[in-house]
Amino acid sequence: ARIVVVGAGRVGMITAMRLAETDLVNEIVLVDVAGGLAAGIALDISHSAGLLGFSTRLRGEQTVAAAGTAAFTVVTAGQARRPGMSRGDLAGTNATIVGALAQQIAATSPDGVILVVTNPLDEMTAHAWRQSGLPSGRVIGMAGVLDTARFASLLSLTGIADASEIRGLALGSHGDEMVIPRSLVSVNGSSIDGRIDEAVLDGVVSRTRNSGAEVVGLLGHGSAFITPGLCAAQMVTAMIREDDRVVAATVRPNGQYGVDGTYVGLPVRLGRHGLASIVELDLTPGERRAIVSAASRISDRVRSLAG
Ligand code: NAI
Repeated sequence: ARIVVVGAGRVGMITAMRLAETDLVNEIVLVDVAGGLAAGIALDISHSAGLLGFSTRLRGEQTVAAAGTAAFTVVTAGQARRPGMSRGDLAGTNATIVGALAQQIAATSPDGVILVVTNPLDEMTAHAWRQSGLPSGRVIGMAGVLDTARFASLLSLTGIADASEIRGLALGSHGDEMVIPRSLVSVNGSSIDGRIDEAVLDGVVSRTRNSGAEVVGLLGHGSAFITPGLCAAQMVTAMIREDDRVVAATVRPNGQYGVDGTYVGLPVRLGRHGLASIVELDLTPGERRAIVSAASRISDRVRSLAG
């Protein structure tokens, strides 16, 4: 099988590197409009085959068509935030790029899956779906896996447990309407009730919500890319392996969680065809309301993108 990673920038290169190391597919093709960038990154990563011992081949191209038919296409092309910018500030520029790419990807790989990474994530996923004409289950977005990883890592800093022992899911939007339901947070399989102060947990959730901006502020140039790239690669790996794990992804429900016909971050299982199923977990009424409200805010922003 072939994986195409569009955008050989910072997120795209980490995604491709991780997928190459994982050694699950015959070929990874990087695509970027910027001169020899994709070919250069592909060649550089391919040199590590001699070090790490993987057999996946890598190639770089300037167009989606030249990359050829892909089972999975990861879209990381577009602008990233600079200090002082919100993800929403990227919407106009990135919609033009992502919309055109979605059409080209659907034409080249009509049976493939598109994993959107470009921000603003929720809006770009909805836009890519519409422009691609593909079934909505085959166009999904990466945000919840990253926000969940950030949450577990930040919660572990309170000393409660190692990040690997913490479970939870970041749902809703990739931004202000991020919802991390307390009822889904567990440490070593047990609920955190009575084990962590409410105010401390709220602090971790709000730092998680602000993590992207925190990294942008420190880097001074560009936005987070290492964990984002690893998360995109992990989602592709989960689709290929069809593992049973429940992860958070940006998908388009048909009534699940009281949301219909708009993209929002929900608990899902992934498979070879993208979304395998939306998993309905028990949430409190307040948590469900927060998801419904995130979906409606996303839907408003998608509408204003089109108009
Ligand atoms: P970057 O600037 O390093 O790379 C973007 C690349 O896209 C550039 O190399 C550029 O030449 C290329 N590009 C632009 N238009 C293109 C086109 N039409 N076809 C092919 N390539 C094209 O940016 P970075 O840091 O890699 O971020 C990429 C995107 O991912 C940004 O929109 C960023 O906000 C987003 N992001 C999303 C995250 C998420 O959780 N969903 C997390 C981190 C970043």
